[in-house]
Amino acid sequence: MRIGEIIKKRRSIRKYQDRNISESLVRKLINAARLAPSAYNGQPSKFLVVRDAKTKQILKDSKIFKHDFVYSAPLIIVCCADPEVYPKERFEPIYSNSSEIGGDIGAVRDLAISSQNLVLMATELGLGTCYVGLVDRRKIKEIFHIPQNYVLPFVITVGYPDENPKPLLRKNLEDFVLKQ
Ligand SMILES: Cc1cc2nc3c(=O)[nH]c(=O)nc-3n(C[C@H](O)[C@H](O)[C@H](O)COP(=O)(O)O)c2cc1C
Repeated sequence: MRIGEIIKKRRSIRKYQDRNISESLVRKLINAARLAPSAYNGQPSKFLVVRDAKTKQILKDSKIFKHDFVYSAPLIIVCCADPEVYPKERFEPIYSNSSEIGGDIGAVRDLAISSQNLVLMATELGLGTCYVGLVDRRKIKEIFHIPQNYVLPFVITVGYPDENPKPLLRKNLEDFVLKQ
């Protein structure tokens, strides 16, 4: 599949087949994320792959996610990033809008870019994914001993699709263009 087809084909998938995902496919997903660009090549992203039923049950008992489908996904990939990777020196304000270049916003930005690489690679491999932002961040960090200062904007569920949802409406192309 060419990249244009992969972009068009991706849908949020919330129902998965009861089928394991091989370790080599998981490595392909993380590798796609690894190859993403990042500010200062800081590479802040960290992915924690949850696949065993016992850990999913702990997440469920702790009500980590609002939506039940997350607990039945073959993989739950916790996406977080270390905001401390960026250079500390100050840049001219004109180029770096306060904390935008480093810190939390930088980490969220770079994590989102690498996560979308992962999602598109999953689509190419025939896997379905869904970003899930409704997460109890404080509790999930506690459960997995993730440093408190890491950003954790979402998890991504992954599995072989067991549904084929229709594309959701998008705004017109013109609406994505900011006119002067
Ligand atoms: C950052 C982010 C967070 C999201 N959080 C959730 C979520 O908590 N629960 C959910 O069911 N879908 C979630 N979604 C999926 C969106 O609802 C979905 O991408 C959107 O409706 C467009 O549909 P599509 O992905 O099939 O094109 C999230 C998507 C993004 C990008």
